[in-house]
Amino acid sequence: MMIMSQPYQWVAIKHPRLEKHQLTFWLVQPESASLFVSGNKQLKLKYHISEVQQQHKEGILTFGGAFSNHLVATAVTCSQIGIPCTGLVRTDQLDVSNPTMSACRQAGMQLIALHRQQYKQRQDPSWLCQLQQEYPDRLIVPEGGTSPYGVNGVAELNLAVTPTGKTDVLITATGSGGTLAGLAIGHPDCQTLGIAVVKDTSLPGKIAALSQQQSNWHLIDNFVGKGYGRFDDSLLQFCLDFKQQTTISLEPIYTGKAMQAIFKLIAEDYFKPGTNLVFLHTGGLQGLAGLLYRGLISQQHYDLLMN
Ligand SMILES: Cc1ncc(COP(=O)(O)O)c(C=O)c1O
Repeated sequence: MMIMSQPYQWVAIKHPRLEKHQLTFWLVQPESASLFVSGNKQLKLKYHISEVQQQHKEGILTFGGAFSNHLVATAVTCSQIGIPCTGLVRTDQLDVSNPTMSACRQAGMQLIALHRQQYKQRQDPSWLCQLQQEYPDRLIVPEGGTSPYGVNGVAELNLAVTPTGKTDVLITATGSGGTLAGLAIGHPDCQTLGIAVVKDTSLPGKIAALSQQQSNWHLIDNFVGKGYGRFDDSLLQFCLDFKQQTTISLEPIYTGKAMQAIFKLIAEDYFKPGTNLVFLHTGGLQGLAGLLYRGLISQQHYDLLMN
């Protein structure tokens, strides 16, 4: 059940604003054969998968929204290695024709709807204990794959040296906090910066608890906009322009929201001249099909962002 570690692709980002502020900027993408298991996903799942074996479980049970990158990454990974999985989905009514749910189903994930009130219990220890009794053969993986196992997988990334020298600031989009915590642990000599894409006042506490006493991380939470999953025309246009200028695909929920924030921070002189910035591309492009499905982006936008 061992998952091999992935090589990365470094892409130099060129932009007049970077030149003006004397910054170098690298985007790094873990290489992936699957759109569904891209970015941070394989890393976050790696030690959960080995834990299934260690704890003599048969499969995985996890949580996510109806368009969750983590749910579909888990479904596809479990299918690839031949273990069963169950997804508890935050929704009042399962729509199995939504592209994410459909991919989960195709990969063999058992899908169970949890209405919003029930879903709120997903971190409640006594509810989790009950759930474990109901599903004794499943390893329960928290939402987003964020647990000490998920963090340890991300901590194995080695992004401390870019093709042009030492990384000064390593940046990621932050949802449940595991990726930022893992980057901080794995890069004790770099500053790590999370751009929050969710409104969650408990997030700094969670990251502190997961980051093994590291203090080299900082969370910026004023670019969430109207909330998780919400975006305006300017953010969508930013993703389209970025694609045209760099050929890199972003989506407006995670990577695009974080990237737009980075360019705003640069304009505000947030980074010292001479800084070598690195952005971890955490994947999530499967989510664009869900935005198209809900009519939140047009077919033309989808084609421009994906191709
Ligand atoms: C595409 C993408 N980027 C960033 C993140 C945020 O990672 P984390 O939840 O570890 O903060 C997620 C969630 O896992 C994601 O799906």
